[in-house]
Amino acid sequence: MQVNGKHYRTIWPDNKNQGVVNIIDQTKLPYDFVIKQISSYHEMINAIKDMEVRGAGLIGAAAGFGIYLASLEAPENKGFDSFITKAAIELKNSRPTAINLEWAVDIVVKAIEKENSVDAKRKSAFQAAIKIADDDSEIGKQIGINGLPLIQKISEEKKGEAVNILTHCNAGWLAFVDYGSALSPIYAAHEKGIKVHVWVDETRPRNQGAFLTSWELSKAGVPHTVISDNEGGLLMQRKMVDLVVVGSDRTTHTGDVANKIGTYLKALAAIDNNIPFYAAVYSSSIDWVITDGVSDIPIEQRSSDEVRYITGLNSKGIPEKVEIVPAESPVSNYAFDVTPARLVTAIITERGICKASKEGIAELFPEKFSENV
Ligand code: MRU
Repeated sequence: MQVNGKHYRTIWPDNKNQGVVNIIDQTKLPYDFVIKQISSYHEMINAIKDMEVRGAGLIGAAAGFGIYLASLEAPENKGFDSFITKAAIELKNSRPTAINLEWAVDIVVKAIEKENSVDAKRKSAFQAAIKIADDDSEIGKQIGINGLPLIQKISEEKKGEAVNILTHCNAGWLAFVDYGSALSPIYAAHEKGIKVHVWVDETRPRNQGAFLTSWELSKAGVPHTVISDNEGGLLMQRKMVDLVVVGSDRTTHTGDVANKIGTYLKALAAIDNNIPFYAAVYSSSIDWVITDGVSDIPIEQRSSDEVRYITGLNSKGIPEKVEIVPAESPVSNYAFDVTPARLVTAIITERGICKASKEGIAELFPEKFSENV
């Protein structure tokens, strides 16, 4: 994606120093665009935990590069393999809900295991991490192509009037390596000259909508309005939303969609108002094992400080954190929820659009069902 006239991905290896991976520090957005250098797998774990990198696809890619960095740090003689095993466990545990983390770590570890010499293991880790990032970018582009007809059809029905799309959290290019999931069809429509307008849920507590989705859409010139998380239902009742498109951190092969906390409420409001609710899902975010997402997908619980405090610009234009909850009041902070398949109109994937069901997903990914299910 373009930032101030230059194309960026969210993560890339440094071309001057092979021991460094660059990230865009998302905790500084929208106020500052800061590129940060990561030079050890522990630094990568911290970047994931602190959400300097975030979003299902991006934390997957980051974990892949994390294993590559671990391969550079691992002792050359005895202990290489156990060092990698330890790094893999730590990286996988850094955030529990998005399945891409585990998926990417396994890919890079397998690439390492195939080789005999340490040198070959390091090269192979690098190539595997790069491939994860390249594939992520391609998949995002394809989801845009596959989701575009949904927007185009509504635009035709509305005779060219703006299509109003509600989205939750940030499932744009910042959440992946490039393009994104939920925002990719929106970018494709906008590029094609189809009039769109995006309702951006602010997405408390970390405000990924207010801070990141709005920033992305502004950079791309896509008309949008930031709304409080509680406004969507009213907008739907007033026919001001034509469709809802969200991303996913983990989708079961039976169609249950785990996404940022609050997504489930949007799906309930959408079904009550007969508004289509789509999840844009990379196949790397599909869990081929868990069948009941509501009870079995692990839900990350994050620090209560994320609810207790809020950050914004002070009157001098400097980012400042302020406390908004009385100190004596306890706070809860579940970071994700699960929307059951029955509330999901369809899933947009890199292979096409399917029903949110085992049968629908099996039609697009038959090989996964023969392998795992
Ligand atoms: O906690 P985050 O910001 O890493 O959450 C992930 C997300 O961005 C959302 O849940 C998103 O809608 C799906 S991941 C692209």
